Amino acid sequence: MSSERRFRLGVLGSGKGSNFVAIAEACAAGRLPAEVALVLSDVPDAGILDRARERGLRAQHLSPGSFRTRLDDAAEAAWIAALQAAQVDFVVLAGFMRILKAPLLRTFPRKIVNIHPSLLPSFPGLEAWKQALDYGVKVTGVTVHLVDHGIDTGPIIAQASVPIEDDDTPERLHARIQQVEHDLYPSALALLLAGNLEIEGRRTRRA
Ligand code: GRF
Repeated sequence: MSSERRFRLGVLGSGKGSNFVAIAEACAAGRLPAEVALVLSDVPDAGILDRARERGLRAQHLSPGSFRTRLDDAAEAAWIAALQAAQVDFVVLAGFMRILKAPLLRTFPRKIVNIHPSLLPSFPGLEAWKQALDYGVKVTGVTVHLVDHGIDTGPIIAQASVPIEDDDTPERLHARIQQVEHDLYPSALALLLAGNLEIEGRRTRRA
C-alpha cells in the first residue's frame, strides 16, 4: 500500500452525479491520491446521493435553508460543520446549483473547485452549452476552476475544447461536453492535490 497522503474530498452536488462518479472512480483506481469523505446535496432525491451510497460512501441531504440560489446563514453553518466533521481537505463542486458565500470560502481558502460546461469567461451561469449553441460559436468546452465570490469567475486550473457541429442539439452537445468533463475533472484535481499548481492572481501554472 502506498504511503502517499490521501486527501479527503467533500463533494457537493444537486444533480445526477456523473462527475462525482468519474472522481470516485479515479480515487478507487489510484489516479487521484484522495478518497471521497462525504457527499452533500441540497436536493433530497438527487442522483448523486444514490451514486455515492451505491459505492458505500457517506452521502447526506442537508437543507439549503430558505434561499433559492444560495445557502442561508444557518444552513451554511451546518454545511461547514458537516464538512469539518468529515475532516475534508478539499471541497469539490459537481453540479452544485448554488452560489457559495464568504463563510464557506473562508473556511476552505483556495480549496474549493468547480467544473463549468463552457470555456470561461464565455457563457457563465446556467445551461452554458445552450448559451454557446444559441450564440453560434463553433467551439465551446469545459473549465475547471477555483471558486471565488463570483459566479464562475475563479482562477482557471484547466480547460478543454469541444467543437460544435452544424446540426447539434442542446442534448447532444451537453452529452459530448460531459464526456470531456469526466476526463478533465479528475486530471485537474490531480494537479491541484499534488501541489503542482502555482496561483498568482488570476493566473495558475504547473509548478
Ligand atoms: C456538469 O455539466 C457541470 O459542468 C455542471 O453541472 C453538471 C453536473 O453534472 N456544473 P453531473 O451531476 O456531474 O452529471
